[in-house]
Amino acid sequence: MKIVSLFSGAGGLDLGLIKAGHKIIWANDIDPDSCETYRLNIGKHIVCSDISIIKLEDIPDCDVVVGGFPCQGFSMANMLRTAGDERNKLYKHFHRVIKGKKPYYFIAENVRGILCLDKGNAIKKIVKDFSDAGYRVKYQLFNMADFGVPQTRIRVIIAGTRKDLPKEKEFQFPPPTHNKTTWISIFNALKNIPEPEDPKLKFKNHIYSKYKVTNRNFTGHRKTDPSKPSPTILARGNGKGGVCAIQHPKNHRRMSVRESALVQTFPVDFEFVGSMGSMYRQVGNAVPVLFGHHLGNKLKQLKAIVV
Ligand SMILES: C[S@@+](CC[C@H](N)C(=O)[O-])C[C@H]1O[C@@H](n2cnc3c(N)ncnc32)[C@H](O)[C@@H]1O
Repeated sequence: MKIVSLFSGAGGLDLGLIKAGHKIIWANDIDPDSCETYRLNIGKHIVCSDISIIKLEDIPDCDVVVGGFPCQGFSMANMLRTAGDERNKLYKHFHRVIKGKKPYYFIAENVRGILCLDKGNAIKKIVKDFSDAGYRVKYQLFNMADFGVPQTRIRVIIAGTRKDLPKEKEFQFPPPTHNKTTWISIFNALKNIPEPEDPKLKFKNHIYSKYKVTNRNFTGHRKTDPSKPSPTILARGNGKGGVCAIQHPKNHRRMSVRESALVQTFPVDFEFVGSMGSMYRQVGNAVPVLFGHHLGNKLKQLKAIVV
């Protein structure tokens, strides 16, 4: 299918969709480093700009729109009507593009917290807004580890099928491929990666934060269990101007950008651009490539109707 990608970041989701056989015809992100990474690894079709200044006519017609809109301002009861409220801006623009472009399908990724924002009213409002825009909407929580990703990352996927499509052409969520007994451990995911200091093997982006390794038992500050999938790779800060990288399974240091990217199932030769903090952030922001591939496979099954 022909896909437009909003808030594309470094392109984790897009790469997964491409691997499933789709074409990303247009992408957008505001962050210059993410756009540079995207151009280098995926393609020159990314437009580096604030979505709020992009006109609908500058976005090509497409079969699907995808994007993980960052969710600031979601505690507002009425998210589309608070004109001028900067905090709802990104949601409003995602909605504007779907409403204006009317793709057959849309897929949006978000954090789990979106489900309990404003006591659950935010997600209800999202479902209603997209239903009013002409879509049958559903959402579900996913643990990436259930899809072969070596990480217990939990995310919500909100998906819409245009109401004029028949019921049997509704987008279906992918079924899990793994369960707790077959989850991929972080030890397994990283077992062939040498220490960054190893002079024999050179890996791109194999640099790491020297932020101290601790065991204070909260996110980003606890020991990594090598026998389990990694905790969620974070994009959020360590309070000292950097990103809080998860500890390496040997717990002697934090994971390098390369290792974090492998846990996010980016290919080993996918090269990130920018400062170390920016690269960690791009990695932590991404939808795991493998999960994107699973979503893409479900879109592929629906392809017959749209050609
Ligand atoms: C959660 S990340 C998306 C990651 C992406 N889905 C992936 O798989 O790699 C959200 C992105 O929204 C971008 N963003 C934030 N504000 C924006 C704006 N006003 N216009 C365009 N992009 C924006 C950020 O730079 C960030 O890369």
